[in-house]
Amino acid sequence: MGSACHVKGSYNIISKLQELISENGLEDRLEVKAAFCFGRCAHAVSVQFEGEDEVFSVAPTSASVTQFFDSEIRKRLNG
Ligand code: FES
Repeated sequence: MGSACHVKGSYNIISKLQELISENGLEDRLEVKAAFCFGRCAHAVSVQFEGEDEVFSVAPTSASVTQFFDSEIRKRLNG
C-alpha cells in the first residue's frame, strides 16, 4: 500500500499472486495481505512473508511473480 510500491505495480503482483493461489488450489493455505511501506522503496515492489524479516523485491510482471511463487512460496509450502 506504500506509494512507491503502488506506483511500481503492487496491484499487478497482488492480482497475479491471487491467480496463482487459485490455480493451485491454495486458498486455504495462503493469504495475500496489503501492508504499509517496508522502508525499502528504492527496491519496490516489496514483498514480505508474515513472521519473517526478509523483504523481497518483486517486479510487477507475470514472469517475475510466477518465479517468486515457484521459488519462495513453494519452498515455504513444502518446507
Ligand atoms: S512503498 Fe513499498 S517499500 Fe516503501
